[in-house]
Amino acid sequence: MIEKVGVIGAGQMGSGIAQVCAVAGLSVAISDINAEQLAKSLANIAKNLDRQIAKGKLTEPEKDAAMARIATSTDLSIFKDSDLVVEAATESEDVKRLILKALVPNLPPKAMIATNTSSISITRLAASTDRPEKFIGMHFMNPVPVMQLVEIIRGIATDDDTFQSIKALTARLGKTAAIAEDFPAFIVNRILLPMINEAVYTLYEGVGGVEAIDTAMKLGANHPMGPLELADFIGLDTCLSIMQVLYEGLADSKYRPCPLMVKYVEAGWLGRKVGRGFYDYSGPTPRPTR
Ligand SMILES: NC(=O)c1ccc[n+]([C@@H]2O[C@H](COP(=O)([O-])OP(=O)(O)OC[C@H]3O[C@@H](n4cnc5c(N)ncnc54)[C@H](O)[C@@H]3O)[C@@H](O)[C@H]2O)c1
Repeated sequence: MIEKVGVIGAGQMGSGIAQVCAVAGLSVAISDINAEQLAKSLANIAKNLDRQIAKGKLTEPEKDAAMARIATSTDLSIFKDSDLVVEAATESEDVKRLILKALVPNLPPKAMIATNTSSISITRLAASTDRPEKFIGMHFMNPVPVMQLVEIIRGIATDDDTFQSIKALTARLGKTAAIAEDFPAFIVNRILLPMINEAVYTLYEGVGGVEAIDTAMKLGANHPMGPLELADFIGLDTCLSIMQVLYEGLADSKYRPCPLMVKYVEAGWLGRKVGRGFYDYSGPTPRPTR
């Protein structure tokens, strides 16, 4: 039974995962290399829980109890009692491999490891640990507290106990699981990211401006968000990494990342999380940048 969950990476996803675990009654330890990010994460979780109180979905004592279940540290030794650690750091295979290597000596032998990667091979990441049979993909969607789905991906060595434990945890968090095989970007992003990439090509080639493209897909295809708005929401660095994994992993030119997406990432215009992407978020309402 999983009772103590660790989360590595206190960004948009790590914070959300920590929040849903704490609200579900689990004890949560969060680690990030950036101490400021840990403080920001706690503040964000508190703000989200306040919003739930305002909507009548949570009580003040429930919020206090959930916040009291969360501990943070920049030191990986915070995971010494964890039953499960969910890795939710930056979408880079090199970064994740280094994290996993450093994590293993800080874990009890029983601990399972899940990665929230959007695209990278579970089997390859598992090989960076001493326990590939206890390693699995647990792919939450953004924003975690709102989105219903968790994609579960077994690596080649993942054992059935680990798979069943993660399925049970997914249900305990009130989420629905979809099981995917270990192929680049799994199910959701294999389908979603090429559409976002195509929207960026549509912008790059001048077929439409930012607003026209998003309006077209919202009103013409009944999508709740336009693809460029969604790209900003996901983070353009994450979108680009996923496209690179698809391009390299499936060796098909149809996955070539749009040069404009590359440029935006090089400029540091990573989307909502930094205040600018295809939209500028510095004013009261987002302004299209093209
Ligand atoms: N953004 C999305 O929509 C989305 C959805 C599902 C899954 N994911 C996946 O979740 C993961 C995190 O994405 P995000 O959007 O939260 O990114 P983010 O940029 O918001 O957060 C990443 C965090 O990782 C931390 N980090 C980087 N290197 C680290 C290290 N060595 N040790 C500890 N922490 C480190 C950073 O300081 C940052 O706080 C990625 O694998 C991404 O693909 C993202």
